[in-house]
Amino acid sequence: MTTVKTNVVIAVSGKGGVGKTTITALMVKLLSEAKQRSILVIDANPDSNLPEVMGMSVTKTVGMVTGDLKRAIEKSEIPPEITKESILESHIFEILKETPSFDLLVMGRGEGEGCYCPVNTFLTRIIDTLSKNYDLTIMDMAAGLEHLSRRTDRDVDIMIIVTDPSFMGLRTAKRIKELAKEVHIDFKKLYLIGNRFTAKMEEELKNEAKKIGIELVGVVPHDDNIFEYNHAGKSLLNLSQGSTALHSLRHILERMELMP
Ligand SMILES: Nc1ncnc2c1ncn2[C@@H]1O[C@H](COP(=O)(O)OP(=O)(O)OP(=O)(O)O)[C@@H](O)[C@H]1O
Ligand SMILES: [Mg+2]
Repeated sequence: MTTVKTNVVIAVSGKGGVGKTTITALMVKLLSEAKQRSILVIDANPDSNLPEVMGMSVTKTVGMVTGDLKRAIEKSEIPPEITKESILESHIFEILKETPSFDLLVMGRGEGEGCYCPVNTFLTRIIDTLSKNYDLTIMDMAAGLEHLSRRTDRDVDIMIIVTDPSFMGLRTAKRIKELAKEVHIDFKKLYLIGNRFTAKMEEELKNEAKKIGIELVGVVPHDDNIFEYNHAGKSLLNLSQGSTALHSLRHILERMELMP
Protein backbone atom coordinates (compact mmCIF):
# COMPACT_ATOMS: atom_id res chain seq x y z
CA MET A 1 0.00 0.00 0.00
CA THR A 2 1.35 3.41 -0.92
CA THR A 3 1.22 6.04 1.75
CA VAL A 4 -0.66 9.18 0.88
CA LYS A 5 1.28 12.38 1.36
CA THR A 6 -0.43 14.96 3.52
CA ASN A 7 -0.60 18.74 3.25
CA VAL A 8 -0.59 18.80 -0.51
CA VAL A 9 -1.87 21.73 -2.58
CA ILE A 10 -3.26 20.84 -6.00
CA ALA A 11 -4.33 23.35 -8.66
CA VAL A 12 -6.35 22.49 -11.74
CA SER A 13 -5.74 24.83 -14.68
CA GLY A 14 -6.13 24.96 -18.45
CA LYS A 15 -7.89 26.74 -21.29
CA GLY A 16 -11.52 27.85 -20.91
CA GLY A 17 -14.10 25.10 -21.13
CA VAL A 18 -11.71 22.12 -21.19
CA GLY A 19 -13.24 20.52 -18.08
CA LYS A 20 -11.31 22.00 -15.12
CA THR A 21 -14.39 22.30 -12.90
CA THR A 22 -15.68 18.85 -13.85
CA ILE A 23 -12.29 17.23 -13.14
CA THR A 24 -12.03 19.17 -9.84
CA ALA A 25 -15.49 18.05 -8.67
CA LEU A 26 -14.79 14.41 -9.57
CA MET A 27 -11.42 14.55 -7.83
CA VAL A 28 -13.11 15.93 -4.70
CA LYS A 29 -15.57 13.03 -4.83
CA LEU A 30 -12.91 10.35 -5.27
CA LEU A 31 -10.42 11.80 -2.80
CA SER A 32 -12.98 12.39 -0.05
CA GLU A 33 -14.44 8.89 -0.44
CA ALA A 34 -11.09 7.13 -0.60
CA LYS A 35 -9.72 7.97 2.79
CA GLN A 36 -10.46 9.96 5.89
CA ARG A 37 -8.55 13.18 5.32
CA SER A 38 -9.30 16.83 5.64
CA ILE A 39 -9.89 18.53 2.32
CA LEU A 40 -10.14 22.21 1.47
CA VAL A 41 -11.71 22.99 -1.90
CA ILE A 42 -11.10 26.47 -3.32
CA ASP A 43 -13.08 27.79 -6.25
CA ALA A 44 -10.52 30.28 -7.56
CA ASN A 45 -12.35 31.01 -10.80
CA PRO A 46 -14.04 34.44 -10.79
CA ASP A 47 -16.62 32.85 -13.10
CA SER A 48 -17.44 30.51 -10.26
CA ASN A 49 -19.58 27.43 -10.86
CA LEU A 50 -17.88 24.71 -8.83
CA PRO A 51 -20.43 24.97 -5.96
CA GLU A 52 -23.31 24.46 -8.42
CA VAL A 53 -21.85 21.35 -10.04
CA MET A 54 -21.33 19.95 -6.53
CA GLY A 55 -24.96 20.76 -5.61
CA MET A 56 -24.05 23.57 -3.21
CA SER A 57 -24.92 27.21 -3.03
CA VAL A 58 -22.59 29.86 -1.69
CA THR A 59 -23.76 33.41 -1.11
CA LYS A 60 -20.61 35.11 0.22
CA THR A 61 -17.26 35.05 -1.50
CA VAL A 62 -13.77 36.10 -0.46
CA GLY A 63 -14.04 38.90 -3.05
CA MET A 64 -17.09 40.28 -1.23
CA VAL A 65 -15.58 40.24 2.27
CA THR A 66 -12.34 41.71 0.91
CA GLY A 67 -14.42 44.48 -0.69
CA ASP A 68 -16.14 45.12 2.66
CA LEU A 69 -12.76 45.41 4.38
CA LYS A 70 -11.40 47.82 1.74
CA ARG A 71 -14.43 50.07 2.24
CA ALA A 72 -14.07 49.92 6.02
CA ILE A 73 -10.39 50.91 5.72
CA GLU A 74 -11.27 53.83 3.41
CA LYS A 75 -13.86 55.07 5.89
CA SER A 76 -11.40 54.61 8.79
CA GLU A 77 -13.85 52.30 10.50
CA ILE A 78 -11.23 49.83 11.74
CA PRO A 79 -10.32 50.30 15.42
CA PRO A 80 -6.55 50.76 15.74
CA GLU A 81 -6.18 47.89 18.22
CA ILE A 82 -7.39 45.30 15.70
CA THR A 83 -5.22 44.31 12.74
CA LYS A 84 -6.81 44.38 9.31
CA GLU A 85 -5.39 40.98 8.60
CA SER A 86 -7.12 39.43 11.62
CA ILE A 87 -10.44 40.95 10.54
CA LEU A 88 -10.10 39.51 7.06
CA GLU A 89 -9.08 36.17 8.51
CA SER A 90 -12.15 35.96 10.75
CA HIS A 91 -14.44 36.86 7.81
CA ILE A 92 -12.85 34.14 5.71
CA PHE A 93 -13.46 31.60 8.47
CA GLU A 94 -17.10 32.72 8.62
CA ILE A 95 -17.71 32.17 4.90
CA LEU A 96 -15.95 28.81 4.77
CA LYS A 97 -18.68 26.31 3.88
CA GLU A 98 -18.31 23.09 5.83
CA THR A 99 -19.58 19.70 4.72
CA PRO A 100 -18.92 16.31 6.34
CA SER A 101 -16.30 15.46 3.70
CA PHE A 102 -14.68 18.80 2.80
CA ASP A 103 -14.70 22.56 3.32
CA LEU A 104 -15.34 24.95 0.44
CA LEU A 105 -14.11 28.49 -0.08
CA VAL A 106 -15.24 30.55 -3.07
CA MET A 107 -12.89 33.35 -4.11
CA GLY A 108 -15.34 35.20 -6.39
CA ARG A 109 -14.47 38.49 -8.02
CA GLY A 110 -12.44 41.32 -6.60
CA GLU A 111 -14.67 44.34 -6.10
CA GLY A 112 -14.04 47.87 -7.28
CA GLU A 113 -11.27 49.41 -9.30
CA GLY A 114 -7.59 48.63 -9.16
CA CYS A 115 -5.62 46.71 -6.63
CA TYR A 116 -5.56 47.36 -2.93
CA CYS A 117 -2.32 45.51 -2.60
CA PRO A 118 -1.93 45.25 1.19
CA VAL A 119 -5.28 43.46 1.38
CA ASN A 120 -4.26 41.14 -1.45
CA THR A 121 -1.06 40.32 0.41
CA PHE A 122 -3.05 39.45 3.53
CA LEU A 123 -5.31 37.34 1.40
CA THR A 124 -2.50 35.28 -0.09
CA ARG A 125 -1.05 34.77 3.36
CA ILE A 126 -4.38 33.81 4.93
CA ILE A 127 -5.12 31.28 2.18
CA ASP A 128 -1.61 29.84 2.57
CA THR A 129 -2.10 29.52 6.33
CA LEU A 130 -5.59 28.12 5.95
CA SER A 131 -4.49 25.41 3.53
CA LYS A 132 -1.83 24.26 6.01
CA ASN A 133 -4.69 23.07 8.26
CA TYR A 134 -5.79 20.51 5.68
CA ASP A 135 -4.32 17.31 4.32
CA LEU A 136 -5.31 18.31 0.81
CA THR A 137 -6.21 21.60 -0.84
CA ILE A 138 -7.74 21.45 -4.31
CA MET A 139 -8.15 24.62 -6.35
CA ASP A 140 -10.25 25.08 -9.46
CA MET A 141 -8.37 27.87 -11.24
CA ALA A 142 -9.56 30.55 -13.65
CA ALA A 143 -9.28 29.74 -17.34
CA GLY A 144 -6.07 30.60 -19.14
CA LEU A 145 -2.88 32.05 -17.76
CA GLU A 146 -3.68 35.20 -15.89
CA HIS A 147 -3.60 33.53 -12.47
CA LEU A 148 0.02 32.62 -13.08
CA SER A 149 1.09 36.20 -13.69
CA ARG A 150 -0.76 37.22 -10.52
CA ARG A 151 0.95 34.37 -8.69
CA THR A 152 -2.11 33.38 -6.69
CA ASP A 153 -0.89 29.81 -6.93
CA ARG A 154 2.67 30.16 -5.80
CA ASP A 155 2.52 27.46 -3.19
CA VAL A 156 1.11 24.78 -5.41
CA ASP A 157 2.65 21.33 -5.10
CA ILE A 158 0.85 19.64 -7.95
CA MET A 159 -0.21 21.65 -10.98
CA ILE A 160 -2.64 19.75 -13.17
CA ILE A 161 -3.21 21.11 -16.63
CA VAL A 162 -6.35 19.87 -18.30
CA THR A 163 -6.55 19.87 -22.08
CA ASP A 164 -9.29 18.87 -24.48
CA PRO A 165 -8.44 17.41 -27.89
CA SER A 166 -8.26 20.86 -29.52
CA PHE A 167 -4.95 22.31 -30.64
CA MET A 168 -5.64 25.37 -28.48
CA GLY A 169 -5.95 23.27 -25.34
CA LEU A 170 -2.46 21.90 -25.77
CA ARG A 171 -1.06 25.28 -26.71
CA THR A 172 -2.40 26.70 -23.45
CA ALA A 173 -0.79 23.81 -21.57
CA LYS A 174 2.55 24.69 -23.19
CA ARG A 175 2.16 28.37 -22.29
CA ILE A 176 1.33 27.53 -18.67
CA LYS A 177 4.56 25.57 -18.42
CA GLU A 178 6.60 28.33 -20.08
CA LEU A 179 5.02 31.12 -18.08
CA ALA A 180 5.51 29.31 -14.78
CA LYS A 181 9.21 29.18 -15.59
CA GLU A 182 9.32 32.87 -16.59
CA VAL A 183 7.76 34.00 -13.30
CA HIS A 184 9.82 31.47 -11.34
CA ILE A 185 6.99 29.34 -10.06
CA ASP A 186 8.23 25.92 -9.24
CA PHE A 187 5.66 23.15 -8.96
CA LYS A 188 6.85 19.94 -7.41
CA LYS A 189 4.83 18.10 -10.05
CA LEU A 190 3.31 19.21 -13.32
CA TYR A 191 0.82 16.81 -14.88
CA LEU A 192 -1.30 16.86 -18.01
CA ILE A 193 -4.77 15.29 -18.11
CA GLY A 194 -6.51 14.84 -21.46
CA ASN A 195 -10.25 15.32 -21.05
CA ARG A 196 -12.79 13.97 -23.56
CA PHE A 197 -10.13 11.81 -25.19
CA THR A 198 -10.66 8.33 -26.57
CA ALA A 199 -8.16 5.61 -25.64
CA LYS A 200 -7.08 5.69 -29.29
CA MET A 201 -6.15 9.37 -29.07
CA GLU A 202 -4.14 8.83 -25.89
CA GLU A 203 -0.95 7.74 -27.63
CA GLU A 204 -0.95 10.83 -29.81
CA LEU A 205 -1.40 13.07 -26.78
CA LYS A 206 1.40 11.26 -25.00
CA ASN A 207 3.78 12.15 -27.84
CA GLU A 208 2.63 15.75 -27.87
CA ALA A 209 3.03 15.98 -24.09
CA LYS A 210 6.55 14.60 -24.34
CA LYS A 211 7.42 17.32 -26.88
CA ILE A 212 6.38 20.06 -24.47
CA GLY A 213 7.89 18.30 -21.49
CA ILE A 214 4.79 17.65 -19.40
CA GLU A 215 3.97 14.22 -18.06
CA LEU A 216 0.66 12.90 -19.35
CA VAL A 217 -0.88 11.25 -16.34
CA GLY A 218 -3.90 9.90 -18.18
CA VAL A 219 -7.01 10.67 -20.19
CA VAL A 220 -10.67 10.94 -19.18
CA PRO A 221 -13.28 9.96 -21.77
CA HIS A 222 -16.37 11.90 -22.70
CA ASP A 223 -19.06 10.67 -20.33
CA ASP A 224 -22.74 11.26 -21.05
CA ASN A 225 -23.54 10.85 -17.34
CA ILE A 226 -21.73 14.14 -16.68
CA PHE A 227 -23.82 15.91 -19.28
CA GLU A 228 -27.01 14.38 -17.88
CA TYR A 229 -26.18 15.27 -14.27
CA ASN A 230 -25.36 18.85 -15.21
CA HIS A 231 -28.46 19.13 -17.36
CA ALA A 232 -30.68 17.84 -14.54
CA GLY A 233 -28.91 20.06 -11.97
CA LYS A 234 -27.69 16.99 -10.05
CA SER A 235 -24.47 17.07 -8.06
CA LEU A 236 -21.44 15.45 -9.68
CA LEU A 237 -20.54 14.26 -6.19
CA ASN A 238 -23.35 11.71 -6.63
CA LEU A 239 -22.21 10.54 -10.07
CA SER A 240 -22.75 6.81 -10.35
CA GLN A 241 -19.73 4.65 -9.58
CA GLY A 242 -20.07 3.04 -13.00
CA SER A 243 -19.22 6.33 -14.73
CA THR A 244 -16.36 5.88 -17.20
CA ALA A 245 -14.93 9.32 -16.36
CA LEU A 246 -14.77 8.43 -12.65
CA HIS A 247 -13.13 5.13 -13.44
CA SER A 248 -10.38 6.79 -15.49
CA LEU A 249 -9.84 9.55 -12.98
CA ARG A 250 -9.44 7.03 -10.16
CA HIS A 251 -6.48 5.49 -12.04
CA ILE A 252 -5.05 8.95 -12.67
CA LEU A 253 -5.18 9.75 -8.94
CA GLU A 254 -3.47 6.45 -8.22
CA ARG A 255 -0.69 7.36 -10.64
CA MET A 256 -0.33 10.70 -8.88
CA GLU A 257 -0.03 8.76 -5.60
CA LEU A 258 -3.04 10.49 -4.12
CA MET A 259 -5.07 7.34 -3.49
CA PRO A 260 -4.47 4.97 -0.61
N1 LIG B 1 -15.49 14.12 -19.60
C1 LIG B 1 -16.60 14.82 -19.88
N2 LIG B 1 -17.69 14.19 -20.39
C2 LIG B 1 -18.82 14.89 -20.68
N3 LIG B 1 -18.95 16.21 -20.50
C3 LIG B 1 -17.92 16.88 -20.00
C4 LIG B 1 -16.69 16.23 -19.66
N4 LIG B 1 -15.83 17.16 -19.17
C5 LIG B 1 -16.49 18.34 -19.21
N5 LIG B 1 -17.73 18.19 -19.71
C6 LIG B 1 -18.73 19.25 -19.94
O1 LIG B 1 -18.09 20.31 -20.64
C7 LIG B 1 -18.52 21.57 -20.18
C8 LIG B 1 -17.30 22.39 -19.71
O2 LIG B 1 -16.73 21.74 -18.59
P1 LIG B 1 -16.20 22.55 -17.32
O3 LIG B 1 -17.19 23.55 -16.89
O4 LIG B 1 -15.74 21.54 -16.35
O5 LIG B 1 -14.97 23.28 -17.99
P2 LIG B 1 -14.03 24.41 -17.36
O6 LIG B 1 -12.68 24.19 -17.92
O7 LIG B 1 -14.17 24.42 -15.90
O8 LIG B 1 -14.69 25.72 -17.97
P3 LIG B 1 -14.36 27.25 -17.56
O9 LIG B 1 -13.07 27.59 -18.23
O10 LIG B 1 -15.53 28.01 -18.12
O11 LIG B 1 -14.26 27.31 -16.06
C9 LIG B 1 -19.52 21.31 -19.08
O12 LIG B 1 -20.81 21.40 -19.60
C10 LIG B 1 -19.21 19.87 -18.65
O13 LIG B 1 -20.36 19.22 -18.18
MG1 LIG C 1 -14.71 26.01 -14.61
